[in-house]
Amino acid sequence: MEKALAPIGVFDSGYGGLTVLKKIVDVLPAYDYLYLGDNARAPYGTRSFETVYRYTLDCVKWFFAQGCPLVILACNTASAKALRSIQQQDLPEIAPTNRVLGVIRPTTELIGTLTKTGKVGILATKGTVSSGSYPIEIEKFYPDISVYQEACPMWVPLVENNEHAGLGADYFVKKHLDSLLEKNSSIDTLLLACTHYPLLMDKIKQFLPDGIQVISQGEIVANSLSDYLQRHPEMEKRLSKTGSRRFCTTDDITDFEQHASLFYGAAIKA
Ligand code: SIN
Repeated sequence: MEKALAPIGVFDSGYGGLTVLKKIVDVLPAYDYLYLGDNARAPYGTRSFETVYRYTLDCVKWFFAQGCPLVILACNTASAKALRSIQQQDLPEIAPTNRVLGVIRPTTELIGTLTKTGKVGILATKGTVSSGSYPIEIEKFYPDISVYQEACPMWVPLVENNEHAGLGADYFVKKHLDSLLEKNSSIDTLLLACTHYPLLMDKIKQFLPDGIQVISQGEIVANSLSDYLQRHPEMEKRLSKTGSRRFCTTDDITDFEQHASLFYGAAIKA
């Protein structure tokens, strides 16, 4: 029997993935999207491998139960700590033709084309940094590039508490930029390897010396998804295209609706 057409699933630990979904929708507006924020268990960035894996797997199973054949982990911590294991799972729920994709691979494929000095800085959660995923993946594509990482544990709470534009953010943004540039002052390309961080872009640019470009992932992931769908017509034809967007959260809906619009750039009804 033919399976019903279904939306693309987009997952994040909370709100950050909405910055990626926004760009995906700009690039691929015709498709239907189902977003899930695991707000009840966020943040993921300080949790162990085992916990991030377990939480992410729960959510991926939920997407599959909703019929989504393709799920994007729009969360760096989940992509770093859970994606590989989930892709290797042989669970009845994970139909062999379903796919789960992350945000790290598309970014690392591109980053080497953006740097001139060959020195790249990664700003991310503690979990993403300790996983080593970025240096490992970048080395596969660009062995000559040096990667310097900085964990910014206060940045997600600042954004989630709507303090990213306030004076309180100045201290933590400056602290981590200074610390990263102390590791190597020739860094010319800085990757925001957490989907919450684009909301700190103004502050980051305020405290960053001239000549350093700041890259966020939304557009990169959106273009990579577009490319994936062109290369995989067997997946593309399983996706519904009525332009619908549905938003779900594992926590309080009213709270989610209030905060989510900040990340998505438009009002959201969960
Ligand atoms: C978090 O939940 O700590 C944010 C995860 C991420 O975007 O890496």
